[in-house]
Amino acid sequence: MTRVFSGVKPTGHLTLGNYLGAMRRWVVEDQHRSDALFCVVDLHALTVDHDPARVRRLSRQAASLLLAAGLDPALCTVFVQSHVDEHARLSYVLECVATDGEMRRMIQYKEKAARERGGSVRLSLLTYPVLMAADILAYGTDEVPVGHDQTQHVELARDLAVRFNQRYGHTFVVPRATHPVVAARVMNLQEPESKMGKSDDTGPGIVYVLDEPDVVRKKVVRAVTDSGREVVYDREVRPGLANLLEILAACAGGEPAELAGAYDSYGALKKDVAEAVVEALRPVRKRHRELCADPGYVEGVLRDGAERARAMARPTVDAAYRAIGLLPPVNAAR
Ligand code: AMP
Ligand code: TRP
Repeated sequence: MTRVFSGVKPTGHLTLGNYLGAMRRWVVEDQHRSDALFCVVDLHALTVDHDPARVRRLSRQAASLLLAAGLDPALCTVFVQSHVDEHARLSYVLECVATDGEMRRMIQYKEKAARERGGSVRLSLLTYPVLMAADILAYGTDEVPVGHDQTQHVELARDLAVRFNQRYGHTFVVPRATHPVVAARVMNLQEPESKMGKSDDTGPGIVYVLDEPDVVRKKVVRAVTDSGREVVYDREVRPGLANLLEILAACAGGEPAELAGAYDSYGALKKDVAEAVVEALRPVRKRHRELCADPGYVEGVLRDGAERARAMARPTVDAAYRAIGLLPPVNAAR
């Protein structure tokens, strides 16, 4: 059966971008058709300035939201990255296969490092894609369902797998990224040139999965649209409008270009987009409230998930240790 692995970083509240670009597909498709693992990648949240209590809180919240969105522990494995040592264990070995030049070429690193403006960045921000490759390769992953922003990182995981296999013998499955048909890159409603990313502020351009319906409506109605009056789908020339049409298509079905033809005003389109988003998020918010009242359930899922994940990753990581030349521990050598 196809092995699927994906993850979400607990660096902020989850957004409509996370939901449409990644999580919803995990729920609707991946967990049913594959042997899938979904991970709250908390080690990745330590690559930028962080508050320990907040990371803990957001990790718990991300796990509950994955379940609230519909991941079913009877169908897939849901767990927290730091509960499974194999990720860090494999990451070091892969660092011995990757080069510093490769790391410095990563777009996300360049963008984030540039934002620090002369200040220093954590070394882990540079090596983060290797840890991500370890997340993926430890499980013999075939497919990695992600938004477009992660394409380059999955390419790196492929490169490292191929290089390791060539040098040290076949050890890793070579994975590939998969993307949703629409909404693989949901843009910020206020700045349609930038991705709708998690952020510390309560940005008016970011719709959070847990936003109240009225907050969602307000944010959508205030979305920046482009000058011009007719509703057309053109990502280059009319990015704000295209974003709204893609969100509508992702939430309510249909093709962005065809949906455009059904509207003769921005106002009517925004109203429908707002209601489509509210309806898409409604069941997730409801289930999240229920799960918050039952923290023991979420903890149980994460405990079982970590156990299952450990058992899956261990043989591959052990094989990589042997292949690269590390002496097996004596009690396991027989
Ligand atoms: P992150 O928030 O970086 O942990 O991302 C978790 C998943 O959500 C990854 O698969 C991302 O590619 C996806 N994702 C994050 N933001 C967006 C966005 N604005 N549009 C589409 N997918 C996104
Ligand atoms: N880097 C990813 C992001 O920022 C999160 C992530 C970490 C991930 N490890 C992963 C995604 C492995 C897919 C597979 O979104």
